[in-house]
Amino acid sequence: MRLDVVTIFPEYLDPLNVSLVGKARARGQLDVHVHDLREWTYDRHNTVDDTPYGGGPGMVMKTDPWGAALDDVLADGYENGAHGPVLVVPTPSGRPFTQELAVELSERPWLVFTPARYEGIDRRVTDEYATRMPVYEVSIGDYVLAGGEAAVLVVTEAVARLLPGVLGNAESHQDDSFAPGAMANLLEGPVYTKPPQWRGHGIPDVLLSGHHGKIARWRRDEALRRTTRNRPDLIERCDPKAFDKKDREM
Ligand code: ADE
Repeated sequence: MRLDVVTIFPEYLDPLNVSLVGKARARGQLDVHVHDLREWTYDRHNTVDDTPYGGGPGMVMKTDPWGAALDDVLADGYENGAHGPVLVVPTPSGRPFTQELAVELSERPWLVFTPARYEGIDRRVTDEYATRMPVYEVSIGDYVLAGGEAAVLVVTEAVARLLPGVLGNAESHQDDSFAPGAMANLLEGPVYTKPPQWRGHGIPDVLLSGHHGKIARWRRDEALRRTTRNRPDLIERCDPKAFDKKDREM
């Protein structure tokens, strides 16, 4: 997968060299290109923003630097064999970024991110590129960040771990919270490792029982309990047919 990020803070994306994403890059599973938007400004002050039409607070990012940058970035990708770009625009006004959307993006060969600062990018930029490629406006949560760069890190990490061969164990995202399947819409319950006693805290006996059926049942009960407590909205989205009699007694 190829990733391009155009930003006025390229160094904000340095964490893409670390950990899972960094390793995926080193192995050639991810081809990441971070670009400084100001390289596509042609005035003395490297201006990227201006006051909003219609008035109001804040500044709006200008069409010209973004248009010039995206044209060059897309041309470079195509020249190097990339295809099927998707424009990912982080914004608090976007559709919620979910595991489902992470899966969808992980199936695309090329993501181009446009994290904005200030009040966002002049609308005509997304309108223009929407004539050439799918545009996803994405919000990572109901809060306002100072810019979209942190959202790029979030989306990239969620997507990268879904790419074939990136996680050590191909099954290790099968029972993630939010993964589809029998535990769909349930949060993962608690996990334990050695030692069996720590500061007076033991671990649930069932985990030592070796009884796979009982362990699965316990994990499901814990998932239900945690979801009920932390995310009652998710319980409402569960298919009632997915629950059995024991669940209803909880
Ligand atoms: N930019 C500012 N806030 C954001 C959010 N919540 N999600 C994505 N991009 C953003």
